[in-house]
Amino acid sequence: MSAHNGSLESIKNEVIHCVLCGLSTTRTNAVPGSGSITRKIILIGEAPGKNEDETGSPFVGSAGKILDQALICARIERKEIYITNVVKCRPPNNRVPTEEEIGICTSEYLKKEIDIILPKIICILGATALKSLLGLKYMTTYRGKIVNRPPLKYFITYHPAATIYNNKLKQIFFEDIQKLAKIVNAQDQTMDKFFPT
Ligand code: URA
Repeated sequence: MSAHNGSLESIKNEVIHCVLCGLSTTRTNAVPGSGSITRKIILIGEAPGKNEDETGSPFVGSAGKILDQALICARIERKEIYITNVVKCRPPNNRVPTEEEIGICTSEYLKKEIDIILPKIICILGATALKSLLGLKYMTTYRGKIVNRPPLKYFITYHPAATIYNNKLKQIFFEDIQKLAKIVNAQDQTMDKFFPT
Protein backbone atom coordinates (compact mmCIF):
# COMPACT_ATOMS: atom_id res chain seq x y z
CA MET A 1 0.00 0.00 0.00
CA SER A 2 1.36 3.46 -0.90
CA ALA A 3 2.04 6.13 1.72
CA HIS A 4 -0.96 8.03 0.37
CA ASN A 5 -3.31 5.13 0.74
CA GLY A 6 -1.82 4.59 4.19
CA SER A 7 -2.72 8.13 5.24
CA LEU A 8 -6.22 7.73 3.84
CA GLU A 9 -6.50 4.52 5.85
CA SER A 10 -5.66 6.41 9.03
CA ILE A 11 -8.25 9.11 8.27
CA LYS A 12 -10.78 6.34 7.65
CA ASN A 13 -9.96 4.89 11.04
CA GLU A 14 -10.33 8.27 12.74
CA VAL A 15 -13.69 8.86 11.00
CA ILE A 16 -15.01 5.48 12.11
CA HIS A 17 -14.26 6.31 15.75
CA CYS A 18 -15.01 10.05 15.59
CA VAL A 19 -16.94 11.67 18.46
CA LEU A 20 -16.19 15.31 17.62
CA CYS A 21 -19.82 16.37 17.10
CA GLY A 22 -23.33 15.40 18.11
CA LEU A 23 -23.91 13.34 14.96
CA SER A 24 -21.74 10.65 16.53
CA THR A 25 -24.51 10.03 19.09
CA THR A 26 -27.26 9.43 16.51
CA ARG A 27 -25.40 7.58 13.74
CA THR A 28 -25.28 3.83 13.28
CA ASN A 29 -22.00 3.89 11.33
CA ALA A 30 -19.76 6.76 10.33
CA VAL A 31 -19.16 6.75 6.58
CA PRO A 32 -15.56 7.40 5.55
CA GLY A 33 -14.59 8.20 1.97
CA SER A 34 -14.09 5.20 -0.27
CA GLY A 35 -12.51 4.22 -3.56
CA SER A 36 -9.01 4.82 -4.83
CA ILE A 37 -6.67 7.58 -5.89
CA THR A 38 -5.89 5.96 -9.27
CA ARG A 39 -7.53 8.67 -11.40
CA LYS A 40 -7.01 11.49 -8.90
CA ILE A 41 -10.69 12.38 -9.09
CA ILE A 42 -12.70 13.12 -5.94
CA LEU A 43 -16.50 13.28 -5.87
CA ILE A 44 -17.98 15.03 -2.85
CA GLY A 45 -21.59 14.69 -1.70
CA GLU A 46 -23.40 16.14 1.31
CA ALA A 47 -23.78 13.56 4.07
CA PRO A 48 -24.67 9.87 4.42
CA GLY A 49 -28.32 8.88 4.14
CA LYS A 50 -30.12 5.89 5.66
CA ASN A 51 -28.49 3.19 3.53
CA GLU A 52 -25.04 4.68 3.97
CA ASP A 53 -25.54 4.95 7.75
CA GLU A 54 -26.54 1.27 7.82
CA THR A 55 -23.65 0.03 5.68
CA GLY A 56 -20.84 2.49 6.45
CA SER A 57 -20.24 3.13 2.72
CA PRO A 58 -20.96 6.30 0.72
CA PHE A 59 -23.55 6.50 -2.06
CA VAL A 60 -25.00 2.99 -1.83
CA GLY A 61 -28.71 4.00 -1.72
CA SER A 62 -30.96 5.46 -4.41
CA ALA A 63 -28.75 8.52 -5.03
CA GLY A 64 -25.81 6.11 -5.30
CA LYS A 65 -27.64 4.10 -7.98
CA ILE A 66 -28.09 7.22 -10.12
CA LEU A 67 -24.45 8.13 -9.57
CA ASP A 68 -23.37 4.61 -10.58
CA GLN A 69 -25.44 4.79 -13.79
CA ALA A 70 -24.00 8.21 -14.67
CA LEU A 71 -20.45 6.94 -14.07
CA ILE A 72 -21.09 3.90 -16.28
CA CYS A 73 -22.45 6.16 -19.06
CA ALA A 74 -19.35 8.33 -18.80
CA ARG A 75 -17.07 5.26 -18.69
CA ILE A 76 -15.61 6.26 -15.35
CA GLU A 77 -14.77 3.24 -13.17
CA ARG A 78 -16.14 3.85 -9.67
CA LYS A 79 -13.27 1.83 -8.19
CA GLU A 80 -10.73 4.21 -9.74
CA ILE A 81 -12.15 7.37 -8.16
CA TYR A 82 -12.55 8.53 -4.57
CA ILE A 83 -16.04 9.28 -3.26
CA THR A 84 -16.65 11.08 -0.01
CA ASN A 85 -18.99 13.50 1.76
CA VAL A 86 -18.73 16.92 3.40
CA VAL A 87 -20.03 15.35 6.62
CA LYS A 88 -19.27 11.72 7.45
CA CYS A 89 -22.23 10.90 9.71
CA ARG A 90 -25.93 10.88 8.88
CA PRO A 91 -27.83 13.89 10.20
CA PRO A 92 -31.11 12.81 11.89
CA ASN A 93 -33.99 12.61 9.38
CA ASN A 94 -31.52 13.57 6.63
CA ARG A 95 -31.58 17.21 7.65
CA VAL A 96 -28.93 19.46 6.10
CA PRO A 97 -25.79 19.40 8.27
CA THR A 98 -25.27 22.49 10.43
CA GLU A 99 -22.43 24.95 9.85
CA GLU A 100 -20.76 23.67 13.01
CA GLU A 101 -20.94 20.03 11.88
CA ILE A 102 -19.62 21.03 8.46
CA GLY A 103 -16.81 23.10 9.99
CA ILE A 104 -15.59 20.31 12.25
CA CYS A 105 -15.88 17.52 9.68
CA THR A 106 -14.24 19.40 6.81
CA SER A 107 -11.29 20.68 8.82
CA GLU A 108 -10.73 17.32 10.55
CA TYR A 109 -11.29 15.07 7.54
CA LEU A 110 -12.32 16.42 4.13
CA LYS A 111 -9.50 18.95 3.79
CA LYS A 112 -6.99 16.28 4.80
CA GLU A 113 -8.44 13.82 2.26
CA ILE A 114 -7.99 16.48 -0.45
CA ASP A 115 -4.44 17.31 0.68
CA ILE A 116 -3.44 13.65 0.57
CA ILE A 117 -5.00 12.86 -2.81
CA LEU A 118 -3.94 16.08 -4.59
CA PRO A 119 -6.78 15.56 -7.07
CA LYS A 120 -6.68 16.67 -10.70
CA ILE A 121 -10.31 17.62 -10.24
CA ILE A 122 -12.90 17.68 -7.49
CA CYS A 123 -16.50 17.10 -8.54
CA ILE A 124 -18.93 18.92 -6.26
CA LEU A 125 -22.27 17.11 -5.97
CA GLY A 126 -24.96 19.53 -4.87
CA ALA A 127 -25.53 22.79 -3.03
CA THR A 128 -24.18 21.78 0.39
CA ALA A 129 -20.79 20.75 -1.02
CA LEU A 130 -20.77 23.90 -3.20
CA LYS A 131 -21.36 26.14 -0.19
CA SER A 132 -19.07 24.23 2.18
CA LEU A 133 -16.07 23.98 -0.14
CA LEU A 134 -16.29 27.12 -2.23
CA GLY A 135 -18.57 29.41 -0.24
CA LEU A 136 -20.80 29.70 -3.34
CA LYS A 137 -24.58 29.77 -3.09
CA TYR A 138 -26.10 29.38 -6.50
CA MET A 139 -26.04 25.92 -8.07
CA THR A 140 -27.76 27.14 -11.24
CA THR A 141 -25.00 29.71 -11.83
CA TYR A 142 -22.14 27.24 -11.48
CA ARG A 143 -23.55 23.90 -12.61
CA GLY A 144 -21.65 22.31 -15.50
CA LYS A 145 -18.76 24.74 -14.99
CA ILE A 146 -15.22 24.55 -13.68
CA VAL A 147 -14.20 26.76 -10.78
CA ASN A 148 -10.46 27.22 -10.43
CA ARG A 149 -9.10 27.74 -6.93
CA PRO A 150 -5.41 27.07 -7.50
CA PRO A 151 -3.97 24.57 -6.95
CA LEU A 152 -7.41 22.93 -6.98
CA LYS A 153 -9.91 22.66 -9.80
CA TYR A 154 -13.59 22.04 -9.11
CA PHE A 155 -16.36 20.85 -11.42
CA ILE A 156 -19.88 21.60 -10.23
CA THR A 157 -23.02 19.53 -10.72
CA TYR A 158 -26.29 18.59 -9.07
CA HIS A 159 -26.56 16.16 -6.21
CA PRO A 160 -27.87 12.91 -7.74
CA ALA A 161 -30.66 12.76 -5.11
CA ALA A 162 -32.05 16.02 -6.55
CA THR A 163 -32.58 14.22 -9.87
CA ILE A 164 -34.47 11.15 -8.61
CA TYR A 165 -37.93 12.40 -9.56
CA ASN A 166 -36.92 14.77 -12.33
CA ASN A 167 -35.82 13.22 -15.62
CA LYS A 168 -34.74 16.55 -17.06
CA LEU A 169 -32.34 17.13 -14.15
CA LYS A 170 -31.21 13.51 -14.37
CA GLN A 171 -30.29 13.94 -18.01
CA ILE A 172 -28.34 17.12 -17.22
CA PHE A 173 -26.58 15.30 -14.39
CA PHE A 174 -25.58 12.44 -16.72
CA GLU A 175 -24.32 14.97 -19.28
CA ASP A 176 -22.32 16.77 -16.59
CA ILE A 177 -20.62 13.55 -15.51
CA GLN A 178 -19.77 12.89 -19.18
CA LYS A 179 -18.30 16.37 -19.35
CA LEU A 180 -16.26 15.61 -16.23
CA ALA A 181 -14.91 12.47 -17.94
CA LYS A 182 -13.94 14.48 -21.02
CA ILE A 183 -12.12 17.04 -18.90
CA VAL A 184 -10.08 14.43 -17.04
CA ASN A 185 -9.41 12.35 -20.17
CA ALA A 186 -8.12 15.44 -21.98
CA GLN A 187 -5.89 16.25 -18.99
CA ASP A 188 -4.55 12.67 -18.91
CA GLN A 189 -3.80 12.73 -22.66
CA THR A 190 -1.90 16.01 -22.33
CA MET A 191 0.19 14.51 -19.51
CA ASP A 192 0.88 11.40 -21.65
CA LYS A 193 2.19 13.63 -24.45
CA PHE A 194 4.77 15.19 -22.17
CA PHE A 195 5.51 12.14 -20.05
CA PRO A 196 5.13 9.07 -22.33
CA THR A 197 5.46 5.72 -20.59
N1 URA B 1 -26.19 11.49 -0.26
C1 URA B 1 -24.96 11.99 -0.02
O1 URA B 1 -24.73 13.20 -0.09
N2 URA B 1 -24.00 11.15 0.30
C2 URA B 1 -24.17 9.83 0.36
O2 URA B 1 -23.20 9.13 0.65
C3 URA B 1 -25.46 9.33 0.08
C4 URA B 1 -26.46 10.18 -0.22
